[in-house]
Amino acid sequence: MDIYINGKKCKAVQGETILEVAGKNGVRIPTLCYHSDLCLAGNCRICVVDVDGARTLQTACTAMASNGMKIWTNTPRVIKARKMNIQLLLGSHFGECYTCPRNNNCELLKLAEEYGIEELPFPKKGKRTGALEITPSITRDPDKCIMCGRCVRTCEELQGVHAVKPVGRSSDIHIGTFFDQGLMHTSCTMCGQCINRCPTGALYETSCVQPVWDALADPDKYVVVQTAPAVRAALGEEFGMEPGSRVTGKMVAGLRRLGFNKIFDTQFTADLTIIEEGTEFLTRLKRTLVNKEKGLLPMTTSCSPGWIKYIEHFYPELLTHVSTCKSPQQMFGPLAKTYFAEKEGINPAKMITVSIMPCVAKKYEAERPEMNASGYKDVDYVLTTRELAKMMKMAGLDLKDMPVEEYDNPFGISTGAAVIFGATGGVMEAALRTVYEIVTGREIPFKNLDITPVRGMEDVKEAEVTIEGVKEEYKFLEGAKVKVAVAHSLSAAKKVMDKVRSGEAEYHFIEIMACPGGCLGGGGQPIPTSPEIRKARARAIYEEDESMTIRKSHENPAIKKLYEDFLEKPNSHKAHELLHTHYLKRKRFDKVK
Ligand code: SF4
Ligand code: SF4
Ligand code: SF4
Ligand code: FES
Repeated sequence: MDIYINGKKCKAVQGETILEVAGKNGVRIPTLCYHSDLCLAGNCRICVVDVDGARTLQTACTAMASNGMKIWTNTPRVIKARKMNIQLLLGSHFGECYTCPRNNNCELLKLAEEYGIEELPFPKKGKRTGALEITPSITRDPDKCIMCGRCVRTCEELQGVHAVKPVGRSSDIHIGTFFDQGLMHTSCTMCGQCINRCPTGALYETSCVQPVWDALADPDKYVVVQTAPAVRAALGEEFGMEPGSRVTGKMVAGLRRLGFNKIFDTQFTADLTIIEEGTEFLTRLKRTLVNKEKGLLPMTTSCSPGWIKYIEHFYPELLTHVSTCKSPQQMFGPLAKTYFAEKEGINPAKMITVSIMPCVAKKYEAERPEMNASGYKDVDYVLTTRELAKMMKMAGLDLKDMPVEEYDNPFGISTGAAVIFGATGGVMEAALRTVYEIVTGREIPFKNLDITPVRGMEDVKEAEVTIEGVKEEYKFLEGAKVKVAVAHSLSAAKKVMDKVRSGEAEYHFIEIMACPGGCLGGGGQPIPTSPEIRKARARAIYEEDESMTIRKSHENPAIKKLYEDFLEKPNSHKAHELLHTHYLKRKRFDKVK
């Protein structure tokens, strides 16, 4: 059908909103409560447009296009209404843009500037009404909330967690938690997806920037940094580069200029995870198929701390299914403070380990009391991709101008299998590349090692691999069809875990990542996020895999040396002490105090 936007004929299909048709035709209509990942709310009325024949202004995000419709996006009454709505929002908002962590990309501030808001007819009176809520991962500032509801919809629709919701009545209404006890007393997974979709500074990561500056400035400290796979596919966006720009070497150069003593790669411990987790999977298969033990399969991955907290709250009776492997971040910490410290003659008490992560749940994970296998806090500080960009800008560094440099050794050596950890399906693909070869002695029979059935943005993916021609010690697997599933976002995790709980699932191995798209869509990644942005980042990650000389974790020479020199063999006693962990059964909510 045809509709007319500002007099121009535009093609539309049944079921499309005015906003969607306008977007496809290059007409920008401003929005606030709308987000491309979420269902429609239609509560901010920033997107209003004039429609011929309609008495009142229509909200473009909810109004459906119909044949012959004539729409005007910039009439005086449209501009006046939008301006008034922005003024009302600003009037109920505690504006302190100078010190607000979102002042470089606040959607409300941008709208105020675009619409030339010079005065507030309804200024907010008095002082702050709510206190900051500070958790290890997330800080909530209720005074900067504009009640758009994006966080609520994110938590409900994408994550299925329902940790936040509107509470109170009339003028007292606000976004709160169960009995307003705070996120730490709910089943909030600390995934930070609500941060990525909040248009203002009402939600942001709890910052570790200052303590990291302090450590870097302390001559008595030896500061090592690790960078997660997904950071290199997104950091460029903070410096104006296109989504999907690969900036690995430039990021390494930037970190070196910030003064870190060693620049290491979490991909090294991602490869290590594959060896430890793959070995654990084969042991679980044998115990199930040969010894007929129960409760060991399907095994689920354990690298996503948001997923771990989710299963602890929502499926505590299934915790025996979770791999005991720590996440790559938490494998890195104890190895840096034991193996590397011993090798280099560094006193681990003076070593500070910093992680650069696409994730805010990793901040919470680093604070878990069991994460001190080295005898010290294994990971001292976790910075998000956004915080790293902030530090680089503070130091006057522009990523675009950085040369391309290499990681330091030994923890800078990694494989293509490790980089794909950053995308949904990547851990499964990396594990299958290794497990199949260990069992059969041959490469997995997928063209160019690309296990395409586990790739892509479908929320739940399934695949089956038949194992034939096995080595003598794996005779119990001859002819076995290994069934795997991959889920990203916690609502997708629910679909899979409900099947496991009911006994309907026939899977052997399940990968679950808490965030949409996997870590590349993590709560610490550059804002905004959208399906297109996440696809671009995934492309960058798979290109990086293609570009690497070694693409299977078990071929990483530095990992082989680590076992020879220190860990002895996969799943050894020492490996268990340093690299494996246990989980906690949690309730959904704490008791009301
Ligand atoms: S949320 Fe936006 S408008 Fe409000 S203080 Fe922060 S930058 Fe300013
Ligand atoms: S916290 Fe942010 S996302 Fe949630 S309602 Fe407030 S402004 Fe919107
Ligand atoms: S961090 Fe995740 S689980 Fe917690 S409130 Fe935000 S979206 Fe919900
Ligand atoms: S963006 Fe349309 S009503 Fe909020």
